[in-house]
Amino acid sequence: MPEIKDGQALARVKYLSMDPTMRVWMADIPQYMPPVQIGEVMRSLGFAEIVESRHPDYKKGDRVTGLTGLQEYVIIDASAKQFFQKVPKIPFVSDTVFLGVLGGNGLTAFFGMEIAQPKKGDTLVVSAAAGATGSIAGQIGKIHGCRVVGIAGSDDKCAWITKDLGFDAAINYKHPDWKEKLAAATPSGIDIDFENVGGEIMQEVLNRMNLHGRVALCGLLSGYTKENPSMANFGTVLVKRLRVQGFIILDYASRFMEAATQLGQWKMFGKLKDRETIVEGLEKAPDAINMLFTGGNTGKLIVKL
Ligand SMILES: NC(=O)c1ccc[n+]([C@@H]2O[C@H](COP(=O)([O-])OP(=O)(O)OC[C@H]3O[C@@H](n4cnc5c(N)ncnc54)[C@H](OP(=O)(O)O)[C@@H]3O)[C@@H](O)[C@H]2O)c1
Repeated sequence: MPEIKDGQALARVKYLSMDPTMRVWMADIPQYMPPVQIGEVMRSLGFAEIVESRHPDYKKGDRVTGLTGLQEYVIIDASAKQFFQKVPKIPFVSDTVFLGVLGGNGLTAFFGMEIAQPKKGDTLVVSAAAGATGSIAGQIGKIHGCRVVGIAGSDDKCAWITKDLGFDAAINYKHPDWKEKLAAATPSGIDIDFENVGGEIMQEVLNRMNLHGRVALCGLLSGYTKENPSMANFGTVLVKRLRVQGFIILDYASRFMEAATQLGQWKMFGKLKDRETIVEGLEKAPDAINMLFTGGNTGKLIVKL
């Protein structure tokens, strides 16, 4: 148990957010944050409760989200540059929503869909559509009046996003005829690609894009475990005059409160539904990370300590 000094608070980590980017953080490649070094605590987002405080901004019982790391306790230090944010206790709302729909994934879906500039009647395709980010992005598309088609890796996931979340169609990319099914589900072509996966799925979606379509490039997770990931053909971007914009959610930090307020309202009015896959025990975190790449999760994947 670490001991705190003046200016520090000790927080007990209750939930850890499992994110595909953790695999990227482990790779010695250029990226948006420094790669985690051997011997360091593995970086992760988490939800924690302050148990002891000599920090000016926190008192015992305060609840925070931020980069807790895969550990049971974290020290929050007033003099260090750390990313922690206090979160409120809301009646009938679980703590874990601050890691999912009201946390990083909801915010990512929100700003990604802002980049996509959805218009009523647009056809939006979302990959990894039954995951934490994709499931919310698709529902935001529905709120904007889009025809929403999700791509996911099992029939159960496809049933969830169409029957419970209101997607107009879902394609199981593990079925051999998925490309024909995608074509049938997008008879007027595709106006927006909310891209989470990359590789062959992204290429097939780009092939069906309409002129001047928009691609919100959120992630390329099919390549995170590969040394030489296959990339979609950039020629398609040229001939279809697509607008492709990559984004990293950290760039929108100054607008997190505005987005979380909107997401919270949508959730309260039943316009956003979410699901969680909870794995118990810190020691299970490495297996949990792998689930993101084998499709073991539906909705937000969380490790409960
Ligand atoms: N830009 C940003 O700031 C930002 C922030 C957060 C997340 N992201 C990105 O958003 C994407 C989704 O992240 P998430 O946290 O919401 O994870 P998630 O979607 O909850 O989980 C990942 C899902 O991806 C699917 N998948 C895994 N490997 C695949 C493959 N080779 N081909 C197709 N689908 C595959 C799996 O579902 P199936 O069963 O459907 O295969 C898996 O459940 C990732 O690319 C992530 O990097 C970006």
